Amino acid sequence: MTSTADQRPATGPGRLAGRTVLIAGAAGGQGRAGAVLFARQGANLALCDIDEVGLETTQDAVRGDVPGTDVLTARVDMRDVAAIERFAAEVTDRFGVIDVVYNNAGINHVGALADASEEDFERVHDINLKSAFFLVKAALPGLKRSTSASIIIVSSGAGLLAPADGNALYCSSKGGLISLTRALARDLAPLGIRVNCLLPGPIETPMVHKFFAAMPAERQQEVRDEVLSRSLFKRFGQPEEVAAMAVFLATDEATYVTAGIIPVDAGWIAV
Ligand SMILES: NC(=O)c1ccc[n+]([C@@H]2O[C@H](COP(=O)([O-])OP(=O)(O)OC[C@H]3O[C@@H](n4cnc5c(N)ncnc54)[C@H](O)[C@@H]3O)[C@@H](O)[C@H]2O)c1
Repeated sequence: MTSTADQRPATGPGRLAGRTVLIAGAAGGQGRAGAVLFARQGANLALCDIDEVGLETTQDAVRGDVPGTDVLTARVDMRDVAAIERFAAEVTDRFGVIDVVYNNAGINHVGALADASEEDFERVHDINLKSAFFLVKAALPGLKRSTSASIIIVSSGAGLLAPADGNALYCSSKGGLISLTRALARDLAPLGIRVNCLLPGPIETPMVHKFFAAMPAERQQEVRDEVLSRSLFKRFGQPEEVAAMAVFLATDEATYVTAGIIPVDAGWIAV
């Protein structure tokens, strides 16, 4: 069986009317932008994050932009597989279906090999990689009830290349997500579930702000220039520019797109 478009309109506003979108890592940055853009397409939202205050701000942003959106929020630590399972079950119970999983939660890590602990390795890989596997597994019963199921996994350009020193843990976790996408796309194609992976370039979010704040002030401009030297537009991307691609991948305009490893990066990995 292959994924087929149903009778719902494929273009225009409301492309995801009535569908249920689960976003992990929805408390800020790209996840918050995604929540608003998915809501504009008429979706119901199930949002989780470890940051409850940020989740509330996202919920307010959604309700301010698209009043009446049905939003379920929950504090979930993506290191906690049982909590992921509980949330996916709650979403399926509440909405009857999961049409879209947008797996966006992630953390950065920069540090020399000699300083990295086993705990560092586990934290980065648990949050960035292991959580994606178990979120998809937990969402499967809900996804199987959808006629147009789609999974979007957020990796990074750093999953394909090593853009800076001290990036081994981040790069290996994000590289794993690329392989995971391909393998899941193969396994889930017979169920009509599409699986795609986004590779954002440098995007202006709290993650990037923290990255710069952690370095000495005199290094910041140099590193900023270095990062942007790979962007053909010489600027950071905005969270909405990534989220817009996630929305597209979730719609019936993308019914022939699966196992896609899709950069949203102004050429960042190409040059
Ligand atoms: N900003 C960039 O330049 C960039 C580039 C490439 C890829 N990415 C990826 O994009 C995704 C979104 O990041 P962002 O840029 O919006 O940054 P962000 O820090 O604003 O968003 C990450 C979200 O993940 C959540 N999170 C972190 N640990 C968690 C945990 N244990 N359990 C639940 N939630 C947790 C955070 O609270 C936050 O809301 C991440 O996967 C990141 O690796 C970002």
